[in-house]
Amino acid sequence: MAHILVTGGAGFIGSNFVHHLVGRTEHRVTVLDALTYAGNLASLAGLPAERVTFVKGDISDAALVDRLVSETDAVVHFAAESHNDNSLHDPRPFLQTNIVGTFTLLEAVRRHDRRFHHISTDEVYGDLELDDPRRFTESTPYNPSSPYSATKAGSDMLVRAWVRSFGIQATISNCSNNYGPYQHVEKFIPRQITNVLRGQRPKLYGRGENVRDWIHTEDHSSAVLTILENGVIGETYLIGADGERSNMDVVGLILRLLGEPADAYDHVVDRAGHDLRYAIDSSKLRTELGWAPAFGDFESGLAATIEWYRENESWWAPAKDAAERFYASKGQ
Ligand code: NAD
Ligand code: DAU
Repeated sequence: MAHILVTGGAGFIGSNFVHHLVGRTEHRVTVLDALTYAGNLASLAGLPAERVTFVKGDISDAALVDRLVSETDAVVHFAAESHNDNSLHDPRPFLQTNIVGTFTLLEAVRRHDRRFHHISTDEVYGDLELDDPRRFTESTPYNPSSPYSATKAGSDMLVRAWVRSFGIQATISNCSNNYGPYQHVEKFIPRQITNVLRGQRPKLYGRGENVRDWIHTEDHSSAVLTILENGVIGETYLIGADGERSNMDVVGLILRLLGEPADAYDHVVDRAGHDLRYAIDSSKLRTELGWAPAFGDFESGLAATIEWYRENESWWAPAKDAAERFYASKGQ
């Protein structure tokens, strides 16, 4: 039994991970989260108070981070500014949280010699052509496109440098696009589901040909727990579930599952510098650590996600108007 510090645990993937940890282990959890626009305490509702403690605070607050790291056994670091479109509009918070915040955590982990797992993204590798037979592996060169992915790439490099220079006990994982409950309505899948639930049309950037490699967030959680327990210190693991789909296909599936006509969507202004395709080869994680995804069927995972948004309008409705106002101001 251990005490785990989860940064960003009120966000989408972090909150799903906290639910996973509490359900699958005996560990105690302290969540450190600044509750930015993307954090929502309601995502942690129902968890046992004797197992989960919430601390509102910033990962760049060195004194707070030092104390929390000293009081816990391991850190799983999800906190980030996570949305590409926001990073194109205002990159500064991405540098502050993703770079300075990660640096602050690394220094505390170094001082107190704690296990550290860094959550990162496949976007650090840039993008692939649609017909490229290759997928990203742990040895693909870094080539980030957006301010978001550049700051995540920078944070990965900091972790690697702290492992090599200071010998900290760290691992890194780079995962593909997650879907599932508790995802903010600014992101692609929840935006389209909640548009249709509100009688509005899904919005596809550009031609909608871009491909993302979808993984259920529960599979991301099980992979992170596997790496935390059995990962080799200093190693990077790619996490993916062979879920490549074009954005157009995903919108078509959402419309079909919600009983709407197949062409009831709009094409809108494309994202600047829009990455074309991501694709993950997760062989290392599967062969070396024995991990496998459990949510292989994207259509049934998506249907369950749609049901979650249908049943939890009070969770997403407060953020929906602001997200749509932002997109409308960009012609999206
Ligand atoms: P999210 O935006 O839903 O949640 C981020 C959380 O971090 C929020 O609760 C927010 O309040 C918190 N936070 C932001 N700045 C903070 C700060 N300075 N101090 C403390 N807390 C702060 O993000 P997400 O989609 O859950 O992503 C979580 C992590 O997973 C990120 O590191 C992201 O890069 C990575 N990731 C995401 C995906 C995906 O598909 N969403 C895929 C691969 C990797
Ligand atoms: O690959 C992992 C990354 O996945 C994570 O690191 C990021 O934190 C996460 O946000 C996600 O990044 P994307 O940019 O791929 O996700 P997003 O949900 O913003 O968009 C998915 C795709 O859908 C992308 O090709 C852009 C497109 N899109 C997005 C929105 C919001 C649309 O076509 N219409 C939309 O309204």
